[in-house]
Amino acid sequence: MPLLDQVRSDYFDFLRFPTVSADPARLPSLRDCAAWLAEKFGAMGMEAEIAATPGAPVVLAKWSQPGGGQRRRVLIYGHYDVQPAEREDGWTGDPFEPRLKGGMVVARGSTDNKGQIFAHMLGVAEAIKEGGAATDVVFVVEGEEEVGSDNLEAVLKARKKDLRCDVAVISDTNMAGPDQPTLTYGLRGIAALEVDLTGPSHDLHSGVYGGAVVNPIKVLTQLLAGLHDDHSRVTVPGFYKKVRKPAAWERKAAKDLGVSDGEVRRQAGSPALGGEPGYTAIERIGMRPTAEINGITGGYQGPGPKTVLPSKASAKLTFRLVPHQDPAEIAGLVEKYLQKKCPKTVKMKITRHHGGLPYFCDPKKDFGPAAVRALRQAWDGKKVHYLLEGGTIPIVSVIRKVLGVETLLVGLSLPDCRAHGPDETFPIAYLERGARMNRALLHEISKS
Ligand code: BES
Ligand code: ZN
Repeated sequence: MPLLDQVRSDYFDFLRFPTVSADPARLPSLRDCAAWLAEKFGAMGMEAEIAATPGAPVVLAKWSQPGGGQRRRVLIYGHYDVQPAEREDGWTGDPFEPRLKGGMVVARGSTDNKGQIFAHMLGVAEAIKEGGAATDVVFVVEGEEEVGSDNLEAVLKARKKDLRCDVAVISDTNMAGPDQPTLTYGLRGIAALEVDLTGPSHDLHSGVYGGAVVNPIKVLTQLLAGLHDDHSRVTVPGFYKKVRKPAAWERKAAKDLGVSDGEVRRQAGSPALGGEPGYTAIERIGMRPTAEINGITGGYQGPGPKTVLPSKASAKLTFRLVPHQDPAEIAGLVEKYLQKKCPKTVKMKITRHHGGLPYFCDPKKDFGPAAVRALRQAWDGKKVHYLLEGGTIPIVSVIRKVLGVETLLVGLSLPDCRAHGPDETFPIAYLERGARMNRALLHEISKS
């Protein structure tokens, strides 16, 4: 089979594993996918191994120049787990049966993160085949990123010696736009909470009790509506205490991205945008923290009417954080605030879910300039953009803490790729482009 056909066929096989980490029933698929990856790394000429965790396994693969010597070592991180995907979410086909439509591969994980990590695998595979990569390389590909990477820190700690490196490289972020090479120098962090309210001990007849017994959905919606003021600022006391002010060059870099509010509105398919005054949409996304209501449940949701006064109401919340906010501290402030505001008419239970620290790394320092050179080369001399991302990759600050290195975020995804949404896509041409970027990057790092 010609090389490109083989690459496409391997990429499609990778996408066929329904590796939804949020669904415990999918654990066997996650395990199968990890085994498949380890075999691919082995076939590339790398030493591959599977590290078991209490959840999905982590795939490790290393390659060192025979003969050794003092060489740079690069850790490349990615994740093989994906977000949930069901046909009825709006997919136009089976989310786990990849298909090619106008140069775009449509499948869950096509961009986040299977396509992006596969591009790095391709770059390293080509380099090894042609006599060796420019640096020593170690891949870490986990299966729990989309649920907070809870088990990866222990693996990094246990395998600290094996994972020693000069810098980490991750492609799990967006580019500013098509063919606009981008170095992401910061990510937002996250604090996730769930709020459960119980009013009456059981569902009641809304005619018999309504007006005397307080409806927990009413209490919940009032509490949630109170999380923001009229200027879209989060009302939780202390929430903004540690938020830094972006430097003038950062606001200029944000402007230079050339992404207008109208473009963000178009990508989101939203009738109009909203948010804190004084910031553009792209600044609100990258530089400002938020409170988001991810889901709200309660009462009757079946067909037709039902005159019920429900017993329970609940909501899932996430707070996106910026330097120097701390997820545990913010979760604590939110809990305190909600408990104080909660009336005696309901019982409140708050469960804390995953947390992740925000990340920031000066792109003018360390290996940042090497990344900029590599991006420019891979995109035929195009200007490189600097981006602060709104999403979270929890392991980046753990890599800094445990392995003591910074991370170069050189994502290949496009804002239009619909990561986490129906009909997620990835430009098939970016596999080769990403492989090229990987090789240029290892080369530039080896010289720095
Ligand atoms: N690839 C994303 C992170 C991302 C998205 C970075 C957009 C930059 C732009 C990653 O797979 C992801 O979705 N992370 C989660 C982490 C969470 C579950 C802890 C996120 O941001 O919601
Ligand atoms: Zn994701």
